[in-house]
Amino acid sequence: MSGVRNRPRDAVNPLRQLTIDQLRQRTSLKWREYPADVLPLWVAEMDVPLAEPVARAITDAVARGDTGYTAGTAYPQALAEFARRRWGWDGLAVERTALVPDVMHGVVEALGMVTEPGDAVVVNCPVYPPFYEFVAHAGRRIVEAPLGGDLRIDLGALADAFQQARAGGRPAAYLLCSPHNPTGVVHTADELAAVAHLAARHGVRVVADEIHAPVVLGGARFVPYLSVPGAENGLSLMSASKGWNLAGLRGALLIAGPAAAADVARVPFGTSVSTSHLGVIAHTAAFRDGGEWLDALLAGLDDNRRLLAALLAEHLPAIRYDPGQATYLAWLDCRALGLGDDPAAVFLDRGRVALNSGTTFGTGGDGHVRLNLATAPELITEAVRRMALAVA
Ligand SMILES: Cc1ncc(COP(=O)(O)O)c(C=O)c1O
Repeated sequence: MSGVRNRPRDAVNPLRQLTIDQLRQRTSLKWREYPADVLPLWVAEMDVPLAEPVARAITDAVARGDTGYTAGTAYPQALAEFARRRWGWDGLAVERTALVPDVMHGVVEALGMVTEPGDAVVVNCPVYPPFYEFVAHAGRRIVEAPLGGDLRIDLGALADAFQQARAGGRPAAYLLCSPHNPTGVVHTADELAAVAHLAARHGVRVVADEIHAPVVLGGARFVPYLSVPGAENGLSLMSASKGWNLAGLRGALLIAGPAAAADVARVPFGTSVSTSHLGVIAHTAAFRDGGEWLDALLAGLDDNRRLLAALLAEHLPAIRYDPGQATYLAWLDCRALGLGDDPAAVFLDRGRVALNSGTTFGTGGDGHVRLNLATAPELITEAVRRMALAVA
């Protein structure tokens, strides 16, 4: 990988700023889980430096010693303005938001508002593995509504799951992933309106995890769930965490539609105040001043997904890759390679490249891997070279 070490720096693309040696000095999960001979393209961290406006806000806060409990409404205000500029949505009302420590704790908080222990939570599998873990930990049951063959929401399967979830008249929730992790599918306004309609018909409350909303590539348009007709009693989780790589500076917002204002008002003060103040400062700066950086990132990701498609077509044509239009995650169907349920184990053992195993994403995940595209193009090339060697 000597070419990787010596590659020239690119002034604009955040994905081309760091060398492999610099990345290996990182102490976060992505770079520390595996030995040094493994190329890690798994967990959703990005190989980028911190966006300059975010770095400045954090550095200034540290210089002030501003590390106490968090306060104020700067975060929802910054997100409301971002939502207006990016998505043309002016329905994010600051008074219908609550700070939560991170997206998954916000999801649990929201599920706790609309269901009781033992109630069902519907998910579209294959889906982000912690959905299963957190729902179980919260004492709720998962009901799966598999995605269709086109990887989009299958309304028939969703209706069946809603019916099953509501059996006996129990409350139920639908944990929507929008955009969808791991497929990168961006749900359309029509699809989301149909979901809202179906949920209302079955009396199911929708909790939309919209953490990947800022990472929508050119040509596609993210539609906030709460902006569609019929979603008035919905709840949404948004965050700057994925768009600006801030998982180490935690924070998120729980946002209510107009008919769910009372739910959000029930978030305990102690929960909101448990949100990292430095996280809130970072996320606020990202939404307020990080648009230019985000655009450069999105352009780099767009290049990377094209690069991956071309490399797979050349070196591993048996892998099916249907590039989505959002997230920096590529969902690869490896079933035709004949590597069994867990091809990620083979790529790791024989190729020394770490990908997420599809088996953890619920029904429909077997035989798949998830590859993290948020890295330098050279590392994507190297990953595919290693994958091809693993099956040669
Ligand atoms: C769909 C989805 N939800 C939630 C999270 C995690 O968010 P947080 O770290 O804020 O809990 C991720 C992280 O990749 C994700 O992909």
